[in-house]
Amino acid sequence: QDTDRDSLFSLNDFARKFYVNTLFETEEGKAIGLSYFLERGFREDIIRKFQLGFSPTAWDTFTKTALQNGYSEKYLVDSGLTISKDGKHYDRFRERVMFPIHNLTGKVIGFGGRILTSDKTKPKYVNSPESEVYNKSKSLYGIWLARNSIVARDNCFLVEGYTDVISLHQSGIENVVASSGTSLTTDQIRLISKFTRNITILYDGDPAGIKASFRGIDMILEQGMNVKVVLFPDGEDPDSYARKHSSSDLEGFISNNSDDFIAFKTRLLLDETQNDPVKKARLIHEIIHTISLIPDPIIRPLFIRECAEIMQIAEQTLMNELNKLLRKKK
Ligand code: GTP
Ligand code: MN
Ligand code: MN
Ligand code: MN
Ligand code: MN
Repeated sequence: QDTDRDSLFSLNDFARKFYVNTLFETEEGKAIGLSYFLERGFREDIIRKFQLGFSPTAWDTFTKTALQNGYSEKYLVDSGLTISKDGKHYDRFRERVMFPIHNLTGKVIGFGGRILTSDKTKPKYVNSPESEVYNKSKSLYGIWLARNSIVARDNCFLVEGYTDVISLHQSGIENVVASSGTSLTTDQIRLISKFTRNITILYDGDPAGIKASFRGIDMILEQGMNVKVVLFPDGEDPDSYARKHSSSDLEGFISNNSDDFIAFKTRLLLDETQNDPVKKARLIHEIIHTISLIPDPIIRPLFIRECAEIMQIAEQTLMNELNKLLRKKK
């Protein structure tokens, strides 16, 4: 079984080098792939650091090359790099810019490939399927490059996408990972908790990003960790924001807009609540529900106090509600 894993690692490493080589050394790679990255504003040193690549346009260039180099059909299919259909083989990734996904020690476990056009009939990203070396719910994009910085800064930024991780590195922020390819899982949060107890969510400033932030907050608090959230302007993600602003502006924006979960929920929900007492009550229940997920009984009253102040309601009333919820859980 270990030889299976070794074979998959070896093949993925071969594929990584193949896609990097295609990006930098072939006419098609340079003309389509490299120019795409450069036009997006990625610097060459960053492209090299993340081992970004390009997959050729033809149907089976990679599969053929790998077979010629002695890699077996079995592992080509198991890794998902090759798709086998009706006895024919073709490459999963074609004409896409390639983002290798690494484990904690920097070995390649899978790939994401981004389309270059805005063809809405095709998926924007194609990802490797799970394999014996790639468990999506336990992997975080960028963790191998982020781990030291997460420890040094005692904080981990959590973003949605590959390009957000890369752009933040280019802006000098290295303690960042993405849960690309899946929605955030408990195992991913536990992986971060090996390095820090503090997570700051930097999801896209759109309804999907906001919804995912609410979910992330509850999951992180349940793990007994601290969470902050930065809401980006509507339609922006960390990558697009970083491209339009200097590194120091970006750092400033993040530190000025890091809300704890109560401030974040209140800011987003209070607007629509106005002075409607029924809606306000619903918001308070929602916040207390989140507070009830915090395992540490010393911390819960601190957030109750904050909520009482913001919502202008007696602390004891909120405490009673919290205790009701906690009793129900038992
Ligand atoms: P850019 O458009 O290149 O800036 O990428 P993005 O990361 O901003 O994309 P988006 O915010 O739309 O999605 C965030 C992440 O979700 C991506 O990085 C992917 O990991 C994943 N994702 C987005 N679209 C798809 C898709 O069509 N299929 C799959 N499997 N994953 C996707
Ligand atoms: Mn989005
Ligand atoms: Mn995005
Ligand atoms: Mn983006
Ligand atoms: Mn809830």
